[in-house]
Amino acid sequence: PSEEFLFKHKGFYFHPALVTREYIDSLEDFEIRDSDVFVVTYPKSGTVWTQNILSLIYHEGHRDGTENMEIIDRVPWLEYNIHNMDYVRRPSPRLFASHLPYYLVPRDLKNRRAKVIYVARNPKDVAVSFFHFSNLSVLVETMPDFNIFLERFLAGKVGAGFWLDHITGWSTHRDDFNILFLTYEEMKKDLRGAVLKICKFLGKELNEKELDTVVEKATFDQMKTDPRANYESMKGNFLEPGKGHFLRKGTVGDWKNTMTVAQSERFDNVFKEKMKDLFSTFNWDT
Ligand code: PPS
Repeated sequence: PSEEFLFKHKGFYFHPALVTREYIDSLEDFEIRDSDVFVVTYPKSGTVWTQNILSLIYHEGHRDGTENMEIIDRVPWLEYNIHNMDYVRRPSPRLFASHLPYYLVPRDLKNRRAKVIYVARNPKDVAVSFFHFSNLSVLVETMPDFNIFLERFLAGKVGAGFWLDHITGWSTHRDDFNILFLTYEEMKKDLRGAVLKICKFLGKELNEKELDTVVEKATFDQMKTDPRANYESMKGNFLEPGKGHFLRKGTVGDWKNTMTVAQSERFDNVFKEKMKDLFSTFNWDT
């Protein structure tokens, strides 16, 4: 990939416009609090959705000055501190998002301090969503043709690297972390159930009304029109105006509308054998 858009550090691809090697290295010693919560994902797997759910669980209804803050400031990226926030001075509980692989996260996360919510999505849908994002984001190399993007994706030459490495890394090292695994598909199928699972993991008890509010505000339609959650404010800065929306479709199985049979088979040839277990674990349709 072009160095203008990606650089490789310790086996992982990062965006040069957003982070330096020194900063990535410094994260190893980043001080973790037991109350910290991290949403970890491979890109395009439900990050913003889960960031919003976390933010709603912790802040909504507690009118603490966050009501007009955007998701990116409520649940900032650990490795991409785009608004130069002082994370050390943030009040607890701090909420973060990250695409880091398991081996580059702060040391104390691996000591099971803090909580991690890992969200995974059917990689075929991830690839299609990522392709559209590449044409929307100024940070990602524009890919006019899905086939070209697909080859990059299958070779792991995209931001966050090879999808399979990311998910197998996190799932095989799950015992090192205090971690909850969720899938985009289960969130889609039963959002309320997913929110309850997250609450249980976090030890947060919401009453029925609070729960209803979180679920309602986390639906695709609500988020699409919520200026705090839809990233429309990034237009002109990180996202190109007129090239579509970050909250694009929000469906399961959209890959079937984009991939040809040949492309789907090509995908299966690279992934399937290596990930039979993952597919059955996560109940993904192929
Ligand atoms: S990123 O860039 O890594 O932060 O992207 P990420 O947020 O992980 O993924 C973006 C996709 O998630 C969809 N999305 C949702 N789907 C269903 N419900 C809700 N509430 C929701 N919010 C975001 C978003 O539309 C992107 O998927 P596609 O398939 O492109 O629509």
